[in-house]
Amino acid sequence: MQILPKGIHWVPSYLDAKAQSLLVDDIRDIVTKAPLFVPCMPRTGKPMSVRMTNCGALGWVTDQHQGYRYQETHPTTGIQWPQMPKSVADIWEELSGCAYPAEACLVNFYEPSAKMGLHQDRDEEEYLSPVVSISLGDTCLFRMGGTNRSDKTSSIKLKSGDAVMLSGESRLCFHGVDRIYPDTSSLLKQGGRINLTLRRVTKPE
Ligand code: SIN
Ligand code: FE2
Repeated sequence: MQILPKGIHWVPSYLDAKAQSLLVDDIRDIVTKAPLFVPCMPRTGKPMSVRMTNCGALGWVTDQHQGYRYQETHPTTGIQWPQMPKSVADIWEELSGCAYPAEACLVNFYEPSAKMGLHQDRDEEEYLSPVVSISLGDTCLFRMGGTNRSDKTSSIKLKSGDAVMLSGESRLCFHGVDRIYPDTSSLLKQGGRINLTLRRVTKPE
C-alpha cells in the first residue's frame, strides 16, 4: 500500500487475475439484472460519458430534475438493486476496516473515450466512512487534488486490480478520471474500464 499526498491510499495489484475475473463475472450478473443507464448532470441534463449501474441496498443515480442522490431502485426499471455479491462485500470488509457493511456499490463503465470530471464524493449522510474504489480493465489516468477545487492536483495511472481509498483527511479530496488508455488490459473482452465505488451512505448504528 502507498500513501499518496493528501493521505489517499493506493493499493496497486490489490486483486490478482483470478479475483478480477471472478469479480467481472459478478458484475456481468448485476448488469443483467440492473442494466447500465446514462447518468445526466443536474440542471443542464447533459449526459455523462460513463454508463452506470449499482448493487447493494442503495444506488447512486443522477438526472436533470432530481440531481445527485441515492435510491433503493433502478431509475428505469424501478426494481430494487441486485444484492451486493460476497466478492464486493469482502473487499469492503478488508479495505475499509469498518465493522459495518457498505450499502452502495456504484459500477461505472468507461468506454475508451469516457472520462469523469474532478468532483468530491459528498452525497452520503456523513463522511466518517471511507470510499473504496476498485479498477478493472483498461488503465486510466486518475487525477487527485485536495479538499478545495483550486488545490494543486497530481495524477497516477490506475491499472486493473488496483484499489484506491479515500478516508480520513482524504475522504473529501477532489478526484476524477482524465482518460482511459485503450487496449491496456485483456480482462474485458470489449475493452474499456470498470470502476467499482463502495460506500456507506447512512450513519452506522
Ligand atoms: C468516481 O469517482 O466516481 C470514479 C473514479 C474512478 O473511476 O476511478
Ligand atoms: Fe468519485
